[in-house]
Amino acid sequence: MAARVVILAAGRGTRMRSQLPKVLHPACGLPLIDWVLEAARDAGPLPPVVVVAPGAQALRQHLEGRATVVEQPEPRGTGDAVRAARPLLAGDDPVVVLYGDVPLLRSETVRRLLDRFEAGGVDAVLLTAMTADPTGYGRVLRDPEGAFVRVVEEPDLPALPRPDPGPGPTVEVNTGAYVFAPAALWDALDRLGSDNAQQEIYLTDAPARLGRVATVELGDPEEMLGVNDRVQLAAAAASLRRRVLTRLMRSGVTVEDPATTYVDAGVEVGPDSVLRPGSVLAGRTRLGRACVVGPFAQLEDTEAGDRCRIATAHLAGCRLGDGVTIGPFNRIRPGSVLEDHSRLGTFTEVARSRVGPHSLVPHLTYLGDATLGRDVNVGAGTITANWDGRDKHATVIGDGARVGSDTILVAPVTVGAGAYTGAGSVITRDVPAGSLGLARARQRTLLGWVARRAGRRAPASRDNGEARPPARAADRTPGGEPG
Ligand code: UD1
Ligand code: CA
Repeated sequence: MAARVVILAAGRGTRMRSQLPKVLHPACGLPLIDWVLEAARDAGPLPPVVVVAPGAQALRQHLEGRATVVEQPEPRGTGDAVRAARPLLAGDDPVVVLYGDVPLLRSETVRRLLDRFEAGGVDAVLLTAMTADPTGYGRVLRDPEGAFVRVVEEPDLPALPRPDPGPGPTVEVNTGAYVFAPAALWDALDRLGSDNAQQEIYLTDAPARLGRVATVELGDPEEMLGVNDRVQLAAAAASLRRRVLTRLMRSGVTVEDPATTYVDAGVEVGPDSVLRPGSVLAGRTRLGRACVVGPFAQLEDTEAGDRCRIATAHLAGCRLGDGVTIGPFNRIRPGSVLEDHSRLGTFTEVARSRVGPHSLVPHLTYLGDATLGRDVNVGAGTITANWDGRDKHATVIGDGARVGSDTILVAPVTVGAGAYTGAGSVITRDVPAGSLGLARARQRTLLGWVARRAGRRAPASRDNGEARPPARAADRTPGGEPG
């Protein structure tokens, strides 16, 4: 039996204190609503209906092509929100209602609800959970025989004496996932009022008005965690992260310290790779097999082949071939491509550049808008001066070139294949293939300069205040003319 899914996301979300709609807040790399869409994925072939607040441009845009969007004109409660979806739900298919702020719900759990519904004999199935901390959840009331009676929202509970601190007795709560027979649902919603503490039309009042209600209890109460504020957002994100890491570990990835490893839901890591402590893999990052990442590496939207080693480094929007080695202490910025077996050593920054296969950039280098061929060696302290204050310019370094330490390559400039630059050169003109480019002042050595300087000073310190002859300007600095 195929079901239709309605996801509610039109509430004010005031407890988030945010300009951003609550369901667009990300947890583990995905907006909350995406997690709920994922939970709904197997319920039926038609796209879910998402109920949104008026306007909600960002949310509508986000859902484009993945859901049918309907507006609830005013946030008058969850029952009213489901009513808003009614025009889109003609037919007899069971209606699954989920809340957009419950991201941990699993698709298997939605399946269990539907299975119970399909087993027959009921107008509604509610997903409930047993918890010692029911704060914020509707309570499920049962009669002495244990049959479902109704849900009571927390603000409508009779005032109770303040409980002792610490875990209270375990009680049953409403998790906010339901399956309804459509005719019975629409009929019940038509009869709902808002005579309650929040003056809202509660969806949770509907089951009590239906004849036959079954409940399914959550096996893992963590799944019900609703995100009403940012404290719960962090708790939900932490749970989702554990799930992602568990999936990776089961697929053959070593996660040395799951407590300090942060991997977004969309990240892929090949088997036999090792994620060392403190590493963050975000966005659409994809790593091949047998890579070693970290400790303390940050990768965002980065693709790498097999057997790459990325130590403490920050990489964003870049692509690595196989066997690339990076680090420690590097920043690789978007648009950079590091081809097979290239190596970046300590303190290297790379922006919009390509480093060819087997090329080495071992220490203290900035490459911006540069293209390096294969087997290039870049000496320590090399800088591509790629910006003239207004525009960016390219540097090209041919296959097998050797850039001497502390070379400044003033772009646009080309160092040809197999060419060398002398250490300390400021290269402003192209160096043809096979040539040496040398651009630095010639050294002069002043033999005996130190002793001559000391000798001139010595009498001045012994002459008891007598005026001291001025030293010749040339003697005052090592760069002066010999005395
Ligand atoms: C709701 C349930 C509560 C349950 C809890 C589980 C009701 C009345 N209460 O409480 O029994 O234990 O979820 O997490 O349903 N929404 C709309 N339009 C509205 C109001 C809300 O679309 O007018 C949406 C919200 O955007 C949200 C969802 O419905 O995604 C739930 O609303 P929320 O205000 O968060 O309800 P809770 O107080 O958490
Ligand atoms: Ca909620």
